[in-house]
Amino acid sequence: MESRSARALRQRLESLAAAGLTDLPKPRRSSRPAPAATVQSTDADRTAPSSGREPSDQTAAAAALAIIRNQVESCTRCADLAAARTHTVFGVGPPDARLCFFGEAPGADEDASGEPFVGRAGQLLTKIIEACTLRREDVYIMNVLKCRPPGNRAPLPDEVANCRPYFEAQFESISPEFICCLGTSAAQALLRTTEPIGRLRRRWFTHGSAQVLCTYHPSYLLRNPSAKRDVWDDMKLLMERMGVTL
Ligand code: URA
Repeated sequence: MESRSARALRQRLESLAAAGLTDLPKPRRSSRPAPAATVQSTDADRTAPSSGREPSDQTAAAAALAIIRNQVESCTRCADLAAARTHTVFGVGPPDARLCFFGEAPGADEDASGEPFVGRAGQLLTKIIEACTLRREDVYIMNVLKCRPPGNRAPLPDEVANCRPYFEAQFESISPEFICCLGTSAAQALLRTTEPIGRLRRRWFTHGSAQVLCTYHPSYLLRNPSAKRDVWDDMKLLMERMGVTL
């Protein structure tokens, strides 16, 4: 009889195949540890982070994410971006995170390191997460695009379309309860809208089983510090719905 974790993995693989991701990952030759092994388990005594899912489901989510990551690493759908990249930037965090932060695209620091939100905007995002009494490693952090656009320009519609199967498969695998879109590109891509971020804030949306809240991008806050008050209002709304006491 099929075990629970085997069934969960099979279902995730079926949904990846439905999203157009059909190749099995090649064995890793780099010295980097396999993604499933790099995912840290989280403490059991925190209010927000862990989904409380069965260990078998967490294993299935980690396995599915490893497959998608592998696909992303060899992706050349956006030929120019693929040719210029140093690293793809997949995402980081627990495979069963309750909360995903969804940004726009890697910048220079992220392209160099392969990790999302590690530059100045990333440091501000970490402060925002910590102000919410969470830790960066408690949440999943990912972007719409997995490759850096030249000059940090906003993603083009074709690029978003090319990356959509990847970020949708990531959300499908993680199955977060909450998604926080950071800025216009992420909000518009996820919600398939052209409404500006100012009109998307302070409203709840759904994406699959996740509740979605949009706020300003940390890079915008670096240019417009007075908007930090608005982001904090958004975070209070999010934490209240998550049951996190501030
Ligand atoms: N901005 C983003 O949207 N994502 C990153 O990873 C870094 C900066």
